[in-house]
Amino acid sequence: MLLFMFFLILQTLDSESAAAPKANCQINLDSTLFTNSSWLSPSGLFAFGFYPEGSDGFKVGIQFIESPSNTTVIWTSNRDGSPVSRNATLKFGQGGLRLFRATSQGEDQNIVNLDQTSSAHCASMLDSGNFIIYDSNSSVLWQTFDTPTDTLMVGQVLSINTELISSVSEMNHSSGRFRLLMQSDSNAVMYPVGTDDNAVNAYWSSETYLQGQYSNLNLSQDGILFITNYNQSQRKNLTQGDQSYNPNTLHLARLESNGMLYVYAYDLVKNTSAVLDKKPDDQCEVKGICGLNSYCTLSGGNHVCLCLPYFDKINDEDTQAGCQRNFIFSTCLGVGDKETYYNTMDYLENVQLLTEPLSPTETSTSKEDCRQSCLDDCNCDVAIYNEDYVSCSKQSLPLKYGSKSTDTKNIVFIKRTARKNTTAGGLDAVPSTRIKKELSGGPLIVFITVVSGLIIFILVLFFIVFKCQAGRYRMIWRSKELALTDEIAPRSFSYYELYEATEGYKEEVGKGAFGTVFRGTLPSTGMLVAVKRLEKVVE
Ligand SMILES: *[C@@H]1O[C@H](CO)[C@@H](O)[C@H](O)[C@H]1NC(C)=O
Ligand SMILES: *[C@@H]1O[C@H](CO)[C@@H](O)[C@H](O)[C@H]1NC(C)=O
Ligand SMILES: *[C@@H]1O[C@H](CO)[C@@H](O)[C@H](O)[C@H]1NC(C)=O
Ligand SMILES: *[C@@H]1O[C@H](CO)[C@@H](O)[C@H](O)[C@H]1NC(C)=O
Ligand SMILES: *[C@@H]1O[C@H](CO)[C@@H](O)[C@H](O)[C@H]1NC(C)=O
Ligand SMILES: *[C@@H]1O[C@H](CO)[C@@H](O)[C@H](O)[C@H]1NC(C)=O
Ligand SMILES: *[C@@H]1O[C@H](CO)[C@@H](O)[C@H](O)[C@H]1NC(C)=O
Ligand SMILES: *[C@@H]1O[C@H](CO)[C@@H](O)[C@H](O)[C@H]1NC(C)=O
Ligand SMILES: *[C@@H]1O[C@H](CO)[C@@H](O)[C@H](O)[C@H]1NC(C)=O
Ligand SMILES: *[C@@H]1O[C@H](CO)[C@@H](O)[C@H](O)[C@H]1NC(C)=O
Repeated sequence: MLLFMFFLILQTLDSESAAAPKANCQINLDSTLFTNSSWLSPSGLFAFGFYPEGSDGFKVGIQFIESPSNTTVIWTSNRDGSPVSRNATLKFGQGGLRLFRATSQGEDQNIVNLDQTSSAHCASMLDSGNFIIYDSNSSVLWQTFDTPTDTLMVGQVLSINTELISSVSEMNHSSGRFRLLMQSDSNAVMYPVGTDDNAVNAYWSSETYLQGQYSNLNLSQDGILFITNYNQSQRKNLTQGDQSYNPNTLHLARLESNGMLYVYAYDLVKNTSAVLDKKPDDQCEVKGICGLNSYCTLSGGNHVCLCLPYFDKINDEDTQAGCQRNFIFSTCLGVGDKETYYNTMDYLENVQLLTEPLSPTETSTSKEDCRQSCLDDCNCDVAIYNEDYVSCSKQSLPLKYGSKSTDTKNIVFIKRTARKNTTAGGLDAVPSTRIKKELSGGPLIVFITVVSGLIIFILVLFFIVFKCQAGRYRMIWRSKELALTDEIAPRSFSYYELYEATEGYKEEVGKGAFGTVFRGTLPSTGMLVAVKRLEKVVE
């Protein structure tokens, strides 16, 4: 009786009363798991323990058991570590969970390392899919819901600055290539892994940027993914729910390896599953689904990655590897040498992409002018002509995030710069054969001597001129006689000068693929300037 009352008091005290810790605490201290066993939730739907990964390895995680033959991993510990062998064991002790890898060296590793002062007492695998370690006061010391991998369960919350990261594939649960981040600016956003949290990389968002104080991404009982603030006074539904919801349905949301977030409904009676909703709507919206210099297009419901004209796949099996030029590329060498080099252009329609613009977008040009302008500019790799904006932007490769979309009135011109076909060796033959023929024997030596002499002379001249110029600008700067020179002469600024001019990069006026443009004022002249801060390059 006394014991019973003790339980009652504990239950009312406990904020996590749904977990009913004492009653549910199935896993006691010093319990051990082998790779052939697991700790099941009361319903038997969830199992904490080893699951097979790789050819003959195991990882520790939580599986959702739809049926004995059909299981889904919803959480993985140490997902980027290597799998352990069949002889590995897992021990639950006061310090947490300890994995013994059972190699010849007898290595072990902590899955959960608990603070010594708050020691573990027991643990539970709950029917929600949450695995919890409790202390002797039945308060939660640690739970898997706090360390999500690629799956969000009902009742699990993705809080500020936490993210879901997709898995490599259905069979490999290591960290993959996409992430969904709950940002501190109230917005939940999907990005490719390894990119900055900024708009150019984002491919989906909850569209709640700086709206209210949204801080949690949550999945409701009826399968609606929603975003709320801390006291749930604000709420925005992000996906469609289950029309035919019944208590025998289990919902979960997963960021799949293809970068899309799916909400699934599992009917536990009929053993069927369905996709309730997915975000974004279209696979080609996922930035980074295709590699560099390729673009995504839909074909028969599936997405394919196609290379730009004049490009070939780097790896036929791996669409993410991207594409490379199928011709021998010459940079600006070709300019002015119309005899040796020639350029051709091909184009694509309705393709969206990201590259670094070479120069500000030109407006009020024609399609043909845009094409010609790139053709004539040896730094230009592609030109994007937009029919809606009547604008032309010349850009350099690599091309990123390419995707075909009928919403985009873009025409992308792609340039092929190649050496002319000379008699000896086909289209890309090195024209040195021609030079050799013209200058054989004695004259060649004379030619080389003269040319080297000339080059050295020019270099020295350049050096002297440059030194003088640099010195002059420096002197002008020092004497503050800037008024005229500043407008016409190029000069360099220190980082600090630019920092001052932009008041600490305060006012953003634009964003490019590799940097952000800020408004500034030169303190010396009061001249208005735009300062681009390279972000990727500095790294
Ligand atoms: C699981 O493996 C352990 C150790 O390898 C062994 O002692 C135990 O009998 C096995 N249990 C089952 C159910 O096969
Ligand atoms: C899973 O993928 C990662 C990254 O591609 C790779 O390093 C790892 O070896 C893979 N794991 C298995 C078990 O194949
Ligand atoms: C669904 O799966 C469970 C567990 O495997 C099984 O007991 C049940 O018979 C299955 N139901 C149907 C309708 O197949
Ligand atoms: C596992 O243990 C057994 C018995 O000790 C041993 O024969 C076997 O080689 C071990 N396997 C691995 C993968 O370490
Ligand atoms: C349990 O709660 C009591 C009373 O609040 C406290 O004194 C004690 O330190 C707690 N024990 C643990 C392990 O947290
Ligand atoms: C998340 O959703 C669950 C179920 O709808 C709800 O009980 C819980 O309070 C929500 N948590 C937050 C922080 O919104
Ligand atoms: C929730 O928090 C907001 C902002 O702090 C507050 O305005 C609102 O009254 C709160 N709502 C409830 C139901 O507590
Ligand atoms: C969001 O979904 C919940 C649960 O179905 C519903 O009660 C609520 O009205 C929805 N909110 C909006 C704004 O649609
Ligand atoms: C496993 O589940 C999936 C999705 O619910 C289903 O398509 C598939 O047929 C199932 N496989 C087995 C062997 O039950
Ligand atoms: C390049 O020149 C060679 C020799 O004249 C010729 O056989 C070949 O067809 C030419 N290639 C192309 C692409 O024109």
